[in-house]
Formats: sequence, C-alpha cells, structure tokens
Amino acid sequence: MTLGYGVMVTLQILVLSFLVRVRVPQQKIAKSLKSTWRFLVTNLKQLRNMETTLVLLKPSCVQRQLIGEVVNRFERRGLRISGMKMMQLSDEILREHYSHLVDKPFFPGLCASMQASPVVAMAISGVEAVQVVRTMAGVTNGRQAAPGTIRGDYSVSNQQNIVHASDSVENAAIEVKRFFKPEEIFDYQSGAFAYIYGNGECK
Ligand code: TYD
Repeated sequence: MTLGYGVMVTLQILVLSFLVRVRVPQQKIAKSLKSTWRFLVTNLKQLRNMETTLVLLKPSCVQRQLIGEVVNRFERRGLRISGMKMMQLSDEILREHYSHLVDKPFFPGLCASMQASPVVAMAISGVEAVQVVRTMAGVTNGRQAAPGTIRGDYSVSNQQNIVHASDSVENAAIEVKRFFKPEEIFDYQSGAFAYIYGNGECK
C-alpha cells in the first residue's frame, strides 16, 4: 500500500495544482481538497493501525482438503490476505519456528507432522489481527478448543490441529519475516475497509 499511497498523493497534488492553474472555481477546489484530506486520513489510519500475523495451514488442513474452508473464514471475518504461498518446510525452519519446543518429547513427532506434506503460509492483516486470528484458531488442543473456532470445528488432536497462528505482536513480526520475503507481502488497500471498521476503531 505504501507505493500506492505515494502514487495517489502525488496524483492528488498534481490534480490540485492543475485546478488552481486553469482557474477552476474555488468551490470545486475546496471539494477536491476535502476528498484529498479524507483519503489521507483514512490511509494514514490504516498504515498506523494494521497488524500482520502469520498463519500456517498445517498438513492436517492441506491433507484433509480444508484449505478453502479455513481461508474462507479469515476472508469472511473481514481480514485481509497480504501474502499466501504453499511450501514444504525444512528441518531448519521448523527448529527456528518451534525453538521454544525443541526439548519437548513431542518435538520429533511435531516436525514429522509439519513435514508430512506442504503447508500453506499466509500473512493476514487487520486491526489487532494477531489477537483476532489467535482467537479464531482456538486453544492448542482441538479436543478442548471451543466450537466455532477453527481447531474446535475441524480437529480433535493436540498436534494435528489444522493451523498455526502467531501468539503475540512481536512474534508475528518475526514469523512473517521468517516465512515471507518482503516482496511476497502485498500491502494493498482493501476497498471494503470503510465497511469493515467503524469510525474511531483505528487508533
Ligand atoms: P504451542 O506453541 O504450545 O501451541 P500453539 O500452536 O497453540 O501456539 O505448540 C506448537 C505446536 O506443537 C502445537 O500447535 C501442536 C504441537 N504440540 C504437540 O504436538 N503436543 C503438545 O503437547 C503441545 C503442547 C503442542
């Protein structure tokens, strides 16, 4: 969005200077200024306020052909997909991603389950997206996850639990960088933004 934002601002400035030069009535210039101002405010709010979180659709999701169902949930909620790709996870990336679990007895089994097939990596954006997505995922163990959550609706396992979702804003930033190159993240503007968030929700 940053590039698009720059282009739009430059265009608006060019249009305004053109209007002034060809002596367009002041009323029309004021109208144009107003729409420029509204555009700037809306977009600066989006820039300041959006979080991007990492979701992995695990082999338990891919193998059970639930990719569409799970992606659909994020889209229907009003979250924006900023990046998405299929990848086969290496030992290295798993050791880094699950570094807090390498000493656990279930770690080898966890790695095997994460490498059983490709996963789908997603970068998902929205206001407070980290917490929103984490709540949608539900608690780790699918048997204990609340119905209505992704894990609660599609899994009955502690390990084959369909999705990974970043657990904090700090980790989300690290994890998005771990799985995506900068050019794989698309910071585009959602046309539905004004219908997804109300006034004052973007602080
Ligand atoms: P963890 O980071 O504790 O949970 P979450 O995925 O909810 O952030 O654990 C990472 C993954 O490790 C978890 O999604 C599934 C697997 N796991 C097991 O296989 N057995 C276990 O007992 C636990 C706690 C996790």
